[in-house]
Amino acid sequence: MSPAIVMGIETSCDETGVGIVQGTELLADAVASSIEEHARFGGVVPEVASRAHLEAMTPTIHRALADARLTLGDVDAIAVTAGPGLMGALLVGVAAAKGYAFSLDVPVFGVNHLAAHVAVDRLEHGPLPQPAVALLVSGGHSSILRVDDITHDVTALGATIDDAAGEAFDKVARLLGLPFPGGPQIDLLAKGGRADAINFPRGLTAAHDLQNHRHDFSFSGLKTSVARWVQSRQREGIEVPIADVAASFQEAVIDVLSRKAVQACRDEGIEHLVVGGGVAANSRLRAELAARCSDHGIMLRVPRPALCTDNGAMVAALGAALADSGKSASELSFTTSSGLPVTQVVVNQMRFGQHGG
Ligand code: KG4
Ligand code: ZN
Repeated sequence: MSPAIVMGIETSCDETGVGIVQGTELLADAVASSIEEHARFGGVVPEVASRAHLEAMTPTIHRALADARLTLGDVDAIAVTAGPGLMGALLVGVAAAKGYAFSLDVPVFGVNHLAAHVAVDRLEHGPLPQPAVALLVSGGHSSILRVDDITHDVTALGATIDDAAGEAFDKVARLLGLPFPGGPQIDLLAKGGRADAINFPRGLTAAHDLQNHRHDFSFSGLKTSVARWVQSRQREGIEVPIADVAASFQEAVIDVLSRKAVQACRDEGIEHLVVGGGVAANSRLRAELAARCSDHGIMLRVPRPALCTDNGAMVAALGAALADSGKSASELSFTTSSGLPVTQVVVNQMRFGQHGG
């Protein structure tokens, strides 16, 4: 039997994503972004995002189906982000997914956005090695996970105790007068700066922190340190070398992320590291992880940048893994959860077997 064709719907933030996956093959990845509507506010405005999802949902589904040369009747199962994310935004995707699932009479999986960021690498490099350590770095989350099975067995080894890595990029970019979202801007600007120009702090890497917060992150002190450095120059009327600040800040983040991810692999005795989330698109992070993993005999898997930032393909990739391993779908009454814990891969799973009807 050929693997199920799964349509994935993603609306947790500002991207309306619809992906179609069969097994580990990506058939379509349509994304509509409302980022330009938020840029002038310097961050995502939930109400604006929800309305944009409502407008973009049906056209994006049609575009994905057309790209895959399929019709709705070909869809065997639907997966949708049930959380974490912005409540109003999630509701739009979940309501659409339930409507399509009910009318097509196919199962629907309400899935975890964070697990989907890890599962998406199936589309690039095939089924995930088990076990693997996952470094998950997005705008709202930064975690190190132990993934024994992405369909049901995810353990948190550590997480940020304050800002997420992407959030730090966005806040520092704002401080430097760069447009939102700041991560890609800093990535670009840093290429023309010196990473060793300013020695910014590496959070939770001191010996005593490595005892209590071995696999945790902290980026809020770094952000404050960058702000103080920039403001003191501005007060003295000295020009701020923004490329050097960007490169030095980025280096501090990347140093900690890569060091801790490799440490977690060594502590767990695991030889595979999978990286996901928007910050995984960062060119410096990708290079540094490649170097450190190769030094320690760790096999590194990072999907291409377009699959790192939010999209529907990642949700479909996780849905396909769930469907192909015979996991139960969600009850049609499932709801959204803006704070869904990373360890819960699927919400409101039916107790017995697959979808009945
Ligand atoms: O995973 P994602 O698309 O959305 C969330 O689930 O949050 O991640 C978005 C975050 C933003 O903070 C953005 O600035 C950051 O990922 N980002 C980057 C890069 N591309 C996106 N950060 C650093 N370097 C990049 N190239
Ligand atoms: Zn995300």
